[in-house]
Amino acid sequence: TIVSTKEMLLDAQKRKYAVPAFNIHNLETIRIVVEAAQELKSPVILAVTPSTVEYAGAEYLIAIARVAALKHSIPIALHLDHFNDIKLIKKYIDLGFSSAMIDASHDPFEENIKKTKEIVEYAKNLGVTVEAELGRLVGQEDDLVVEEKDSVFTNPTMALEFAERTNIDSLAVAIGTAHGLYKSEPKLDFDRLSQIKEKVSIPLVLHGASGVPVESIGKSIELGICKVNIATELKIPFADGVKKFFQKNPDASDPRKYLSAGMLPMKEVVMEKIKMCKSEGKV
Ligand code: 13P
Ligand code: ZN
Ligand code: NA
Repeated sequence: TIVSTKEMLLDAQKRKYAVPAFNIHNLETIRIVVEAAQELKSPVILAVTPSTVEYAGAEYLIAIARVAALKHSIPIALHLDHFNDIKLIKKYIDLGFSSAMIDASHDPFEENIKKTKEIVEYAKNLGVTVEAELGRLVGQEDDLVVEEKDSVFTNPTMALEFAERTNIDSLAVAIGTAHGLYKSEPKLDFDRLSQIKEKVSIPLVLHGASGVPVESIGKSIELGICKVNIATELKIPFADGVKKFFQKNPDASDPRKYLSAGMLPMKEVVMEKIKMCKSEGKV
């Protein structure tokens, strides 16, 4: 069965690695991720945004993830990523999601706390883990767009208050990463991350990992990051593989052939990212 992210993240915290959370969209991308994770003996989180659930259907995603968990011997979690509709989160938890991010980071502090608490109270009884965010990442993640001027780094003192008052399992921090790729190499605020880590004892989550150099991810893990979110850097090799296939075979129409052309290059990146998270061999 699919598991929550609680034990996964606590083990990562104890043994100083991060569990990779890969944004997936369909059968093909789920299979690539779990097969790569199985080969490298890594725990893995399958993350879906609201628009992915709209696209693929919650029940289909849950069914595929459950089969994946049955077929493999690694821990697999199915996680709601960047959800801010309380009703929807509850509905998908009821259907079978094992972990959820309530992203009310765009609301004022007190409102963020209120919404997050409501989800925590609901999820805790059901053994579902809850991640929330304080601060705001610049960039675009599906329908979620944040302009540079609206981005906010996480305040360490407020992070402590937020974690204590909400009773969340993990906290997503804003320390200079962005959703999507970067115009120039991102500079992460490691001092801030250390200060947050000093105050907050629960596992910390890094969003926007696509485009961040391996060394910066490594340093973030040393400083307390236990979950790393990766989306954009998986979409690009898949799309490039499919594009190349059609350039070479403009008359092709067999989905098994053109989808396979995207799956192989994506799998290589998934494996690279597992190694980057140092979660290889942790199962
Ligand atoms: P990237 O697209 O930058 O990898 O961000 C992924 C993410 O944070 C998903 O929640
Ligand atoms: Zn994110
Ligand atoms: Na990014």
